[in-house]
Parts: sequence; C-alpha cells; structure tokens
Amino acid sequence: MTVTDSTTGILFGGDYNPEQWSEDVWADDIRLMKQAGVNTASVGIFAWSSIEPEEGRYEFGWLDRVIEMLHDNGIGVILATPTASPPPWFSKAHPEALPTTREGVRLVHGSRDTYNPAAPAYRAAAAAVARALAERYGAHPAIRAWHLHNEYGTVSYGPLVDAEFRTWLQARYGDLATLNRVWHTSFWSQGYAAWDEILAPQQTQYLPNPTQVLDFKRFSADLLLACYQEQIDIVRELSAAPITTNFILPPWLHFDHWNFADASDFVSIDHYVDAAGADGAAHTAFGSDQARSFARGKPWLLMEQAANTTQVGKRILAKVPGQVLANSVQHVARGAFGILFFQWRAPYSGAEFFHSTMVPHAGENTRVFREVTELGALLGRMGELVAQPSAADSAADTPVTGVVNRPRVAIAWDADAWWAAETAGLPSDGFSFHRSARRVHRALWFMGVNVDFVRLDHDLSRYDVVLVPSQLMVTDAQAASLRGFVEAGGHAVVWYFSGTFDGDLHIIPGGYSGAFADLLGVRVEELLPIADGETVELDDGHTASDWSERIELRGAEVLVRFAHGSAQGRARGGAQAAGLPAITRNVVGAGSATYVSTEPDDAGLAAVLANVLARAGVEPDAPGAGDGLEAVRRYAGEGSYLFLINHPDRPRETSAVGTDILSGTAYDGPLTMEPGDMLVLREASASRPN
Ligand code: GAL
Repeated sequence: MTVTDSTTGILFGGDYNPEQWSEDVWADDIRLMKQAGVNTASVGIFAWSSIEPEEGRYEFGWLDRVIEMLHDNGIGVILATPTASPPPWFSKAHPEALPTTREGVRLVHGSRDTYNPAAPAYRAAAAAVARALAERYGAHPAIRAWHLHNEYGTVSYGPLVDAEFRTWLQARYGDLATLNRVWHTSFWSQGYAAWDEILAPQQTQYLPNPTQVLDFKRFSADLLLACYQEQIDIVRELSAAPITTNFILPPWLHFDHWNFADASDFVSIDHYVDAAGADGAAHTAFGSDQARSFARGKPWLLMEQAANTTQVGKRILAKVPGQVLANSVQHVARGAFGILFFQWRAPYSGAEFFHSTMVPHAGENTRVFREVTELGALLGRMGELVAQPSAADSAADTPVTGVVNRPRVAIAWDADAWWAAETAGLPSDGFSFHRSARRVHRALWFMGVNVDFVRLDHDLSRYDVVLVPSQLMVTDAQAASLRGFVEAGGHAVVWYFSGTFDGDLHIIPGGYSGAFADLLGVRVEELLPIADGETVELDDGHTASDWSERIELRGAEVLVRFAHGSAQGRARGGAQAAGLPAITRNVVGAGSATYVSTEPDDAGLAAVLANVLARAGVEPDAPGAGDGLEAVRRYAGEGSYLFLINHPDRPRETSAVGTDILSGTAYDGPLTMEPGDMLVLREASASRPN
C-alpha cells in the first residue's frame, strides 16, 4: 500500500473535475498538467449525478476515459467516492434523508452536503455507489489512493437522528437511571422514564442540558465515523490502495480528528489560510502541525489549498507573489508527502466560481499558473524526502512512516474539551478551544519553536513541555497522565478554568480546575471573570484580560501577581483580583506545573512561554529563528533536512551546515536569508531519531 515511491517523489496536483467540462478541454488539461509537473489528480469528489444519473444506473464511460487518460500520461489518481453531494433523484425519492437543522427546518436539495448521516436510505445509497466504484476501479493501476467522501462534518436533527441517538445512549449508559444521574436530570424536571422520551437537543426554550448537548456532539461525531467506516470496509474488500478522507480544519468541530485518523491509512487535510502576512504563515504551520500530530506516525498529505486566494473577513484577498510556494514548503517541512489544490481549472459558472485554481480564469499566461509551475519544479527537487526511512519502517510498506519532525513541545488537543468549552451558561462566553490553542501555537511560531498536538492520555514522554490552554473537561486518565509527565521531569503549563469538569461535564468539587489542583499546588476558590473590553495590569509590566481568580496557594510559588485593575475595574469586576496570584509555579518531582489564571497580552504570553521553554532547555531548530524566519527539521531516509524559510519582511541572519537540495549550494556556518528565501538543507551531522 504505497501512495508515493521513488518514481513519484512528492505528490503534486489537485482536485480534477473533468465532468464539469466538455471532453475537448481534457487534452488541454493534460498538456498543462505536464507543463506544471502535476503527477496526481483527485477525481470524482462531487460527481455522483454524473456517475449514477438514476438510481442503480451507472455511467462509467467518461470516468473510464478520464482515468485511462491520466494513467497514460503518468498521472496517478486519488479516486473519491462522491457521497458528500447526493444527486437530485436521491433527495426526491428520500426526503427524510435531507438534513434537518437544530431549529427543526428540513433543508432542500440545491447545494452540497444535503444528506442526513442517520438516514438508512442515504447510508445505503452511499454504500452502493462506493461499492460500484471500488468494484470497477479497485485494482486499476492508476489508483494511488481512495478519497472517501469530502470533509465529513454534516450534523442533522429530526426523528431518524433521535432514534440513532437513543441507541447510542443505550450503549453508553445501559439504563435510564445512569443516564438520569449523568445528565443530572433532576435539575428542571428532566427525569426520563422511557427511552423514547429522549430527543436530540434541538432548539428549546432556554438553556439546554449541558451533558445532553455534549453527548449529542459525541454521538454526531461517532455517526460520521460510522459513515466513514462503512465505506472503508467496502473499499478495503475490493482494493489494496490506501484510504483517506480529507479533514476540514475550521473553527468548528463536528468529528474527532484522532479517531478519524486512526481509521485512515494516511491523514489528509484541507488548509485555507485565513490571514495575510506572517499570521498566514503561522496559520499554515498550525494546520500542518495538526495533520502530522493526528497522523501519529502515519503519512499525511495536503489534499486541498487555494492557489491564490485567502478569505480574510468578508473579502477574498489575493496571495502575495511567492506565498503559495512558501506555504507549500511549510507543509512539506512538517511532513507532507504531497501538495494538492482545490482545484485544477477555474469554472466559469457554478457556486464556487471565484475560488482560485491552479489554472485561473485568465488561463496559463498568468502569474498564478507560473507560480504553480514553479512549485511543481520545486517539489520535483525534493523527491528524496519521501524515501523509505529505514528497513524496519519499509517493512510496513507505507511511505514516510515514523518520525518526520520531533518537536519537544506539545499542545493538548481533545474533541471533548473543545465541545465542553462551547457549553452554554459558562461564566464567560469567551471560551473557545480552537482560539486558545491557536493563540498559544501562534506565540510559539513567532518564537521559532516547533510544536505537536497531543491528547493528554496519549504518550507524553517524548515531550519536555506540554501546554494545556483550554482543556475545561478532563478525564481521570488524562489528569493522571499529565501528573506522570511532570513527575518524570516534564514541564506543564495549564491555563485558567482547565480541569474544572470531569468526563461527564460535572464540576469537580472543592475548587475550580480541580482535576489539576494538586499538580498545580493551588486551590481556585472563586472565579472573577473580567468584563468585556477591560484590561488589568500584572506586576511584571504586562496586561491581561478576560479572566482572573481568587487563588489560594497550596505549595505553588507566585511568578506574577495582578497589580491593580482597570480604571473602571472595581465596579465591573476587573480590580477584584488586585494583589492576588496571576501566574504560579509548582515544582513536582523533577518537573514543574505552571498555572496561568488569566489571559495575558501577547508579550505576557510570550514571557510565560519563554520562561517554561528556558526551564526545559527548548530552543528553535536553527539560531535566529522566530519572528517570521521559520526553521523546521524534517527527518527522511536515514538523515535529516533543515528547512529555512524567511517569510517576506527583512533579511535575517542564521547559521546552518548542509547542502540545499533546491539549488545544490553548500552552506557551512553563518548565512543571510533575504525576504522570501527558502533553503532545504541536507544535513550531514544529524541523524533520524527513533
Ligand atoms: C473545501 C472543499 C472544496 C471546496 C473548497 C473551496 O473546503 O472541500 O470542495 O469547496 O473548500 O475553498
């Protein structure tokens, strides 16, 4: 099961939708693909109505021709199942399989993702088309991999979902007494006497039951996983090609990345940069660090990115010249074995006609297509990065297995914790798991420090620093795991309100952040959220916002105190913490646990991180990295490669030893990187860790 080998090098290409074009355009596609160095096309993603125009009647002729044409021209195919976009005949025959919103509105056909994952008719139709494709193409030599569905993430409500939800709850709780206890249904007269009284949490009069909502999110994620698994089982029976589904990485979450990655042969992500300049580069690093982390040693691929556009607020901005090259190399630095785009050719009509493409509306004689071609050539010079790492790994017969980067710092990432932070009725509506994780990741990126994501109950022993920015809900196993990590010499940083809830979303008695209280050496007696828009001063000269607490020290030392509140603070809450501990540290065994009970400003956050990194002896991968000069070490074959990228700003000084595989130039010591410069240095000295 290999997606890449010594002949393919790094995969390069994108979504290819020839069914949207007349066949006379196809030959021109091939000409331009060859010109750009494209070696991979993802085909069929939304082609259900072209493949199965009527129930059970398949039209494979066009797809046969497309696959043969690509194959004849040396372009590998990642074949999709089209199940994210049911055709009109399906919705007409099965209106119950359309999605229903939380407000109870059943949506109609006319876009994509118009399906209800709990509808038996949808599941059967999806399984049938997946089987038909796998039977026909499962053994075709052009098929490098399977791309099942597109961006799982549709949530639905309604009677079919209610029934499935009850089945899921019965399996989880066994009996109603247990469910009533865990959901604490004595509050507001919600005690259930029969299973069929239970509904999915649709829009109701006032605040919903918190654990019911959390369980529904868990259930919905499991339902999507079941849809994925059904297709995996069918395709696996009929094809040896590896299987993936493309993860969407937005600020909302409807599935659990960890278990979707476990079910996949390799991970793939779609990454759409949402900021300009260095912040866009930081966002790119965030996405690819997630992909590598979720993959946990399996290979990973960038399945989609935009060739030219960035959605910033309400405008679609153009990427600056060179940006798509730098962003792509960032992904490769962090382990990607392929760089693909949405999509190949710009359509002149259809819903997404202004999403940028590899071949723009204006054609091949454009800056964008020239950069795409330049990128193809650049990736073509990096083929050695997908070499088999070692005899042991090649026995597993997958490319790029094992360690590709080795960050010593990890950020806790957990779907339950994300959903817990969305609970209605918390003391602040400002919690966002995604925003907190991203803020800490961004701060580290600007400090030049590379980072993984990890679930707290995974093996933490390979890290020196574990950061817990917004893990409101923690299981006993996760709390014990973090404690074990610190006792063994690790350094943890935990942010406010983390560890306040147990795995059932019940507040742990005895003080907030109770799951971590012993480890942190504090007792959080009272929550003192700070009013919106207020800032308070800390005694290290930084400011903070959003949150403060009345903390009693139980062994921890104070690193920083709240100095005094804002001008209006006393009336609005901000000043109440004046003089109280803001940041503390507890020494435990050979390690330490720092607690940050507020939201420091950017400089304050960097100071907290610098403090713990210094304690753990963590440094960037190259001298001078940070603030837009990116240094990432990637392991491949038996050796290592140092990626240096100077995101356009100003010349930067660093130092490195090795040969740049892009230009063949050898470097041996101090060097200046001009804005936009990129080097991929094959290092003679470092060797691949286990
Ligand atoms: C992705 C999706 C693609 C396309 C793209 C546009 O999320 O998978 O099909 O819609 O966004 O940016």
